[in-house]
Amino acid sequence: MNSYVIFLFHVISIAVNINQNSMDFFLDTAEVDVIKDLSETGLVDGITTNPSLVAKSGQDFFSVLEKISRIIDGPISAEVTAIDTEGMINEGLKLSKIAKNIVVKLPLTLEGLKACVFLVNKKIRTNVTLCFSANQALLAAKSGATYVSPFIGRLDDIGENGLDLISNIKSIYSNYIALNTKILVASVRSLDHIAKSAIIGADTVTLPPKVFLEMYDHELTKKGLDAFLKDWAETKQSIL
Ligand code: E4P
Repeated sequence: MNSYVIFLFHVISIAVNINQNSMDFFLDTAEVDVIKDLSETGLVDGITTNPSLVAKSGQDFFSVLEKISRIIDGPISAEVTAIDTEGMINEGLKLSKIAKNIVVKLPLTLEGLKACVFLVNKKIRTNVTLCFSANQALLAAKSGATYVSPFIGRLDDIGENGLDLISNIKSIYSNYIALNTKILVASVRSLDHIAKSAIIGADTVTLPPKVFLEMYDHELTKKGLDAFLKDWAETKQSIL
């Protein structure tokens, strides 16, 4: 291999690995007031919901999705509840009509993957959820899913390492240029989950509002600000 070929190989490797501008932050909630409040930060790129979150909100599913779509321009995942392919397709088609930014969320079952292929062919965006293994993620990507949602907290709960799964999916997807599915890290429980997902290069994390609010917080930031303000007050100056 001559040096030009080696150089080209390095450039291509970098281009393949650095394939997006930033990590997207989604909120993992169906609480409209919370979404409205946190969207004012300008840092919320999308929303994920699931049947449990909708049940917890105590609100009507369709009205929740309509309200969220008036607040958020980015992707909003809405999950089907049928378990057969035809039912999932019909529910997916109905959900996709609520707003242009609805992403149909499908479970990672054989029926869900079949529904995914159908909806992808109809140019409807999909999020294949409840992913717990690299092989499942490979199938989601082969099905053309826009997103795959590996649930890392639930893997940690059973003594496995959820972040290892993110790392493995990232490696697999990086090996094949035709696998364009985005890794949407789900079931996030800690700040460590977020930072390590970014180090791995996951495309998106979906965060419970509480974890989102913990991200900016650091004891030394508070302490440092207090000291700056105290010293500034002693100068008796004013910027405005
Ligand atoms: C993702 O889309 C799911 O809604 C969510 O992240 C599941 O998280 P949990 O394991 O905390 O319920």
